[in-house]
Amino acid sequence: MAIDERSVHGGAALVLRLLVCVVAARAVSAVADGPLLNGNFEDPPNQSQMSGSVVTGEHAVSYWKTSGHIEFICSGQKQGDMVLTVPDGSHALRLGSGASIQQQISLTKGLYYSLTFSASRTCSQNEMLNVTAAPVSGSPAQTGELPTQTVYTSSGWDSYSWAFRAEAGLMSITVTHNCGEEEDPACGPIVDAFAIKTLSQPEASQNNMLRNGDFEEGPYIPPDSQWGVLVPPVDEDDVSPLPGWNIMAYKKSVKYIDSAHFAVPRGARAVELVSGVETALLQEVYTTVEGSWYRLEFSAGDADGCASSYDDGSSSGMKVKAYAGTAETTVDVDFRDAGGSKRGKIEFRATASPTRVVFVSLGYHTKSDNSGTLCGPVVDDVSLVPIPQPYARRLLL
Ligand SMILES: *[C@@H]1O[C@H](CO)[C@@H](O)[C@H](O)[C@H]1NC(C)=O
Ligand SMILES: *[C@@H]1O[C@H](CO)[C@@H](O)[C@H](O)[C@H]1NC(C)=O
Repeated sequence: MAIDERSVHGGAALVLRLLVCVVAARAVSAVADGPLLNGNFEDPPNQSQMSGSVVTGEHAVSYWKTSGHIEFICSGQKQGDMVLTVPDGSHALRLGSGASIQQQISLTKGLYYSLTFSASRTCSQNEMLNVTAAPVSGSPAQTGELPTQTVYTSSGWDSYSWAFRAEAGLMSITVTHNCGEEEDPACGPIVDAFAIKTLSQPEASQNNMLRNGDFEEGPYIPPDSQWGVLVPPVDEDDVSPLPGWNIMAYKKSVKYIDSAHFAVPRGARAVELVSGVETALLQEVYTTVEGSWYRLEFSAGDADGCASSYDDGSSSGMKVKAYAGTAETTVDVDFRDAGGSKRGKIEFRATASPTRVVFVSLGYHTKSDNSGTLCGPVVDDVSLVPIPQPYARRLLL
């Protein structure tokens, strides 16, 4: 349920507000995962708190509290020579320097949640978005920085995910435009399509020592989004939108994709390594025993016609490098745009604990449709199991 902090004048208004709250509460408990209330900014803003397209009152945008220079964007509006588009509906918000938007959400204390929203950088390259989740009364606040330097999708709109633990039943989610040196304080990224999803925390099983090895649990992907959702790097102590897994990078992300729009090797979800060697997909396994043998298996494939060719006609076949502890293997992924996947395997002896399982794409790729959308090999269906000491190796040792 979203709580609106507007003070309410008059009995009729109060009754109306209560009704709205009841309806909202029902809507949220029925559809726990999905768009936030007015998460796509399609509700018309309160005109008495607007000056043209600029939001002047902090409660002009229903269900949100805004601060700083916020502009209400309409799809088709021009910025210089550029026609602005909007990913969901026909409205979005632009966050000027230091501006922020906040919504209060009622959640289940102790559970994990991922927030998904779309953002488009329109001004300086140094634009950055900070996301904070904090109990409405009290602490601690959890804050993350989303790097928006790299634009992954040809439309200019990328969908980002970020995760947190609900430290209280009523949390406020804040997105702030954390500006570098923006010349124009009115300028900044445009945001849209806010949604939330409860994240379960899959455990390792008898058949797989990895958590969430099939990547079926992860951030919300809007059903009609064709571009997947970016999972940015998170610090070790922060909540990962991809349970079990961490993204290690300076400012690059991996992409979480769905089978509705991509060739996913198995199940409904997978991870596309869209940032070359600058990003590692990693899990640390604490249950391996030094000196024992294990087998890591995984699928590597082409999810969206990614293996394009270079100008000189040479193939840019993709390569996935996988590490399990000190052992490694490289899998060539070149399906000539046909889509598909194959299995990679490492049999190794654990030399330390924890064992790090890591996937990296060895190249940079764009889609073969010449759109400029960044892409890369997809990784899915990863398993780690103990094996008997291989016979040949036993003789050698
Ligand atoms: C619009 O804003 C004005 C001024 O703050 C306020 O009095 C009015 O109740 C608001 N209208 C709605 C529908 O929220
Ligand atoms: C954004 O987050 C970073 C790191 O967490 C912090 O240093 C910075 O002050 C934050 N900026 C804002 C505007 O909250």
